[in-house]
Amino acid sequence: MKPLTKLPAWKALTAHHRTIKDVTLRDLFAKDAKRGTRLTASAVGLFLDYSKNRVTDETLKLLFQLAKESGLKDRIEAMFTGKKINITEDRAVLHVALRAPKNAKIMVDGKNVVPEVHDVLEKMGKFANRVRSGRWKGYTGKRIKNVVNIGIGGSDLGPVMAYEALKHYSKRDMTFRFVSNVDGADFVEATQDLDPAETLFIVSSKTFVTLETMTNAESARNWLLSGLDGNKKAVAKHFVAVSTNAQKVAVFGIDTANMFGFWDWVGGRYSMDSAIGLSTMLAVGPENFGKMLSGFHAMDKHFRTAPLEKNLPVLMGLLSVWYSDFFGAQTVAVLPYEQYLKRFPAYLQQLTMESNGKHVSLDGTKVNYETGPIYWGEPGTNGQHSFYQLIHQGTRLIPCDFLAFAKALTPLGRHHDILIANVLAQTEALAFGKTPEQVKAEGTPDALIPHRVFEGNRPSNTLLADSLTPETLGSLIALYEHSVFTQGTVWQINSFDQWGVELGKALAQAIIPELESKTPPRLKHDSSTNALIKRYRKMKG
Ligand code: F6P
Repeated sequence: MKPLTKLPAWKALTAHHRTIKDVTLRDLFAKDAKRGTRLTASAVGLFLDYSKNRVTDETLKLLFQLAKESGLKDRIEAMFTGKKINITEDRAVLHVALRAPKNAKIMVDGKNVVPEVHDVLEKMGKFANRVRSGRWKGYTGKRIKNVVNIGIGGSDLGPVMAYEALKHYSKRDMTFRFVSNVDGADFVEATQDLDPAETLFIVSSKTFVTLETMTNAESARNWLLSGLDGNKKAVAKHFVAVSTNAQKVAVFGIDTANMFGFWDWVGGRYSMDSAIGLSTMLAVGPENFGKMLSGFHAMDKHFRTAPLEKNLPVLMGLLSVWYSDFFGAQTVAVLPYEQYLKRFPAYLQQLTMESNGKHVSLDGTKVNYETGPIYWGEPGTNGQHSFYQLIHQGTRLIPCDFLAFAKALTPLGRHHDILIANVLAQTEALAFGKTPEQVKAEGTPDALIPHRVFEGNRPSNTLLADSLTPETLGSLIALYEHSVFTQGTVWQINSFDQWGVELGKALAQAIIPELESKTPPRLKHDSSTNALIKRYRKMKG
């Protein structure tokens, strides 16, 4: 594979950018009355309007050409057929197998992995039904009313996002909490009003060695035992594990009969529809969980089979490359106009930035172009009264993804029309702005005109779906997963490892004893870190 910047399509895009960088969305819309309906695509219940992007037909043609020259179709096939595309860890990347139908066949090392996936789903379903119906009893015979998921990163962000997103479908007489941070406040606040006799902990960790999760799990065990007269037998009734590491689970004291497994070909940030989703299943029931998986699968099929020009993840991924690499955009804002999606941007941050925050290409050479942008966002309309000022009138270009649903899950008077009016108004304002002439015509004093001008030409995608169902949520997440894949493929990086989190973990392990030691430790860090350690030791007393 040629380096990215040597590909003909890349060179053509570089030249093309010079011709288009000053073209405005106002002009593009004025010249093409159908643009707003033409530059759209829909699949599996999601409608994408990408007309308010700074692209022409020529731009799109070149971006699709870039995808072809990057071998995107082959890479997609390689992923879906279990090739070990995570080359730095020598692993297949098969989150798509987690939502494949029972009769599908996906081979890894000569073995079809789909039956195992369905075995685990069945085991999860039986367990979820026992807990939800009250047949699974706690140690004292009380039914389980509270579920606390302990995990971090992919073992937390997916579950908490999905719980919030699908709360409407959840069992309201049960309480769900999520503990991730090693800051003790997280655990203490999550459990302070819970009765240990009615509480089930799910320790979710792919590796079962993650410092934060194991520290919280230890505290959970102590909390439980001190609330249940210290009887260790209680652990079996109040702890289950989700992991790939049966040995460590057993060492912790959880009966491996109560362990739900998954596999090394599931990356942490791609694991929410594996057993890591057990808390989601407990909250919404196996049937809704299955519907969510079918939504994921529908998007998988679309990504694998739809032509590039109509392929939602491909379109969104290529647009992100266009802004990152040619317009120098540093970030992408994801703005859900749906309160239930309040944790969606946080979830996307791990998915996108742990995947594509890479500085070397697959062959280890340092890239000479920008890779993964910073994803961020908050639900609308709250963001409008906070950071939108900068998106509208700041000096940076911030492409935005607006997400909206035609039907509210909780209709309330005029709220939904007002909400949707806002999302439409924002995309319109960003694209077309307000000229000095328009501002003047409103009677604005000359001195104020520059302050009140909106330059416009600020790009956005609008994603519209019928309503936030489990299926739609699955499709939406898969859309972003595959958009990340598309971007990573173009950038020729490995979107499936995360070596960048290792150094900090290792250094923390070295510093912990230096903070805890009774006698002053011999410090060998830089002068800043040494001084901070000394100061902390003194301050904590
Ligand atoms: O932050 C690094 C990471 O490895 C993530 O990729 C992962 O989601 C998270 O830690 C949690 O890991 P585990 O599930 O093994 O506890």
